[in-house]
Amino acid sequence: MKILGISFSPRKNGNTVAMLTEALNAAEAAGAEVELYSVNGKNLQPCDGCWSCVKTGRCHIKDDMEALHDKMLAAEGIVFGTPVYFYGMTAQAKTVIDRSLGLVTPERNLANKVCGVVSSCGSLGMIDAIKDFTYYIFTRHMLPANHVSAYMSISGGLDKMPKCRQCLNDLGKQMVALVNIGFKYPPEYIKGPSAFGTHTM
Ligand SMILES: Cc1cc2nc3c(=O)[nH]c(=O)nc-3n(C[C@H](O)[C@H](O)[C@H](O)COP(=O)(O)O)c2cc1C
Repeated sequence: MKILGISFSPRKNGNTVAMLTEALNAAEAAGAEVELYSVNGKNLQPCDGCWSCVKTGRCHIKDDMEALHDKMLAAEGIVFGTPVYFYGMTAQAKTVIDRSLGLVTPERNLANKVCGVVSSCGSLGMIDAIKDFTYYIFTRHMLPANHVSAYMSISGGLDKMPKCRQCLNDLGKQMVALVNIGFKYPPEYIKGPSAFGTHTM
């Protein structure tokens, strides 16, 4: 079982990476093969809205995104981690989400992946960041595990936050337990893009 943690912080070794590392270590101790990916230093261009990926399952923009998509597709569980930037996720997080629009083909899709979310902030906006990941998880037919948010930058880091550390450990273990259950949406529910536009019909 593979669990991938993705840090959407531009900082190489910031609070988000610390939180993800804690959760991934717990998942590893529970038996998972884990990997931490950081957007730091990567070339990840924004979506250009061409929609061609929905037919092919692949984005035509040639940068570091396809390698990240391959890692996401290979994992049974993904922990998304973002700092809060202006009451929401970082631009890097949104870029990765937008560019995964085409991951809905029978061969390349995110359905049934167990997802956790961690967010690190200074004062306000964590709920907004988590909320946006929740919609993402819904629309891709992924499965929510839990989320952990922390006022990391005013609290002196994870070492000073034992409750947060415990929650991250629980999340890591929970991810493994949920993947082990092996829940799968019935195939008829995961065909194509979902949850768009039912109000327009
Ligand atoms: C551009 C920018 C915008 C930010 N906006 C917010 C915000 O709206 N709310 C908040 O609580 N913290 C905000 N912060 C603080 C970060 O969320 C916080 O320092 C976080 O712990 C950084 O995580 P990292 O070390 O993983 O990068 C902002 C930081 C930056 C650089």
